[in-house]
Amino acid sequence: MKISVVGTGYVGLVTGVSLSHIGHYVTCIDIDETKVEKMRQGISPIYEPGLEELMKENIQAGRLFFTTSHQEGFRDVDVIYIAVGTPEKEDGSANLSYIEQAVRDIAANITKDIIVVTKSTVPVGTNHYIKELLISLVPKHINVEVVSNPEFLREGSSVYDTFHGDRIVIGADSEEAAKVIEEINKPFGIPIFKTDIKSAEMIKYASNAFLATKISFINEIANICEKLGADVESVARGMGMDKRIGSMFLNAGIGYGGSCFPKDTKALTQIAANLDHNFELLKAVIKVNNHQQRILIDKARERFGSLTGKRIALLGLAFKPNTDDMREAASIVISKELIAEGAKVVAYDPVAVENAKKVLPQEVIYTESIEDALENADMVFILTEWSQIKELDLNIYVQKMKQPIVFDGRNCYSINEVQQYPIEYHSIGRKP
Ligand code: UGA
Repeated sequence: MKISVVGTGYVGLVTGVSLSHIGHYVTCIDIDETKVEKMRQGISPIYEPGLEELMKENIQAGRLFFTTSHQEGFRDVDVIYIAVGTPEKEDGSANLSYIEQAVRDIAANITKDIIVVTKSTVPVGTNHYIKELLISLVPKHINVEVVSNPEFLREGSSVYDTFHGDRIVIGADSEEAAKVIEEINKPFGIPIFKTDIKSAEMIKYASNAFLATKISFINEIANICEKLGADVESVARGMGMDKRIGSMFLNAGIGYGGSCFPKDTKALTQIAANLDHNFELLKAVIKVNNHQQRILIDKARERFGSLTGKRIALLGLAFKPNTDDMREAASIVISKELIAEGAKVVAYDPVAVENAKKVLPQEVIYTESIEDALENADMVFILTEWSQIKELDLNIYVQKMKQPIVFDGRNCYSINEVQQYPIEYHSIGRKP
């Protein structure tokens, strides 16, 4: 199949690269000339384990191309994937202007029948709107079909997920179009679920909202466990053994961040509100998460009283490990509040520092190593469970810090292990 992908953000690039890897001819289109030039050389604009290797392999095999030209990118293709961003508007709803621009570019350049596949997360009803817009813009003799094909990849493991996902959802109103997209995806060897367009659009929002709910739920249980003297990790393990609940996404911590859960949960409450439905459950999930992101500050205040003048080390800044993505990371809220209170914030992250500099307060000091961040610190906040942090020799806290007081927002160490050291250890939902 000849395919083109519009947008080379994390979704578009991984989609394009993986489709080329299973044998399709794929052209990825992006308006950014410098970015396209780099991608042609197999350099990925995002940090994603395993992606560059796949890029290089498929560029060499002559199946993967990059261009800034819509005319070139859409020439003779059978299927066009839209994978542009749908950022959040001020009211929490999704901004569809990039999608609309992509549709206009498609309409202006295609010369034969086309199937347009939407990968971007879009509010229910958007694919029908895309189809109407396309039909109104293309010449009458060109037949246009639109398919919703939401992605369920996790950042940091998207290459792995592409080949080991749980399902591929194809939402189409035309059986023939669904069949074409099914054939394209068959080589991935992942179960394919076909449904109508609106249900496919909703599966994406409902899945992310449900996972976010699991996280806020276990975080609330953690907060109660702490007060009771119970251990949230044992509780989660015991709950997760029930197949109806499942053991995944029950890690208590400082809440969810990233480009998806915060945006999609807000967008879904907005979709509901537009239909006069008050999605109270999801609103509570969001509220719990906003509180949870700041919970280490509450713990530190309880312990120290004021944090003014304290030297506080932040270990991990990205919203989760194996990514340099800082979007909606708890480190943003935390560093802003600490700086506002007059604390001195020293931060370490193995890959996210460049992105962190764009969003954290300018007073934050960055270090090249964990040891330098800990030097003379009054306390440390662990915000991302990077393996470097999980595997750290705990003596380092004792040797480097003014006083080894650790607030661990990701439960990186077992209580038994920490107890072997003269460390004051505060974690989430566990006995101190
Ligand atoms: C999420 C979904 O997991 C993907 O299925 C989906 O495709 C993607 O959003 C998307 O909509 O594009 P992602 O945002 O990359 O993927 O990251 P996750 O691994 O899901 O983690 C999200 C946040 O939840 C992180 O901040 C993580 O630290 C937190 N989390 C996750 C917890 O606090 N506890 C858990 O048990 C699991």
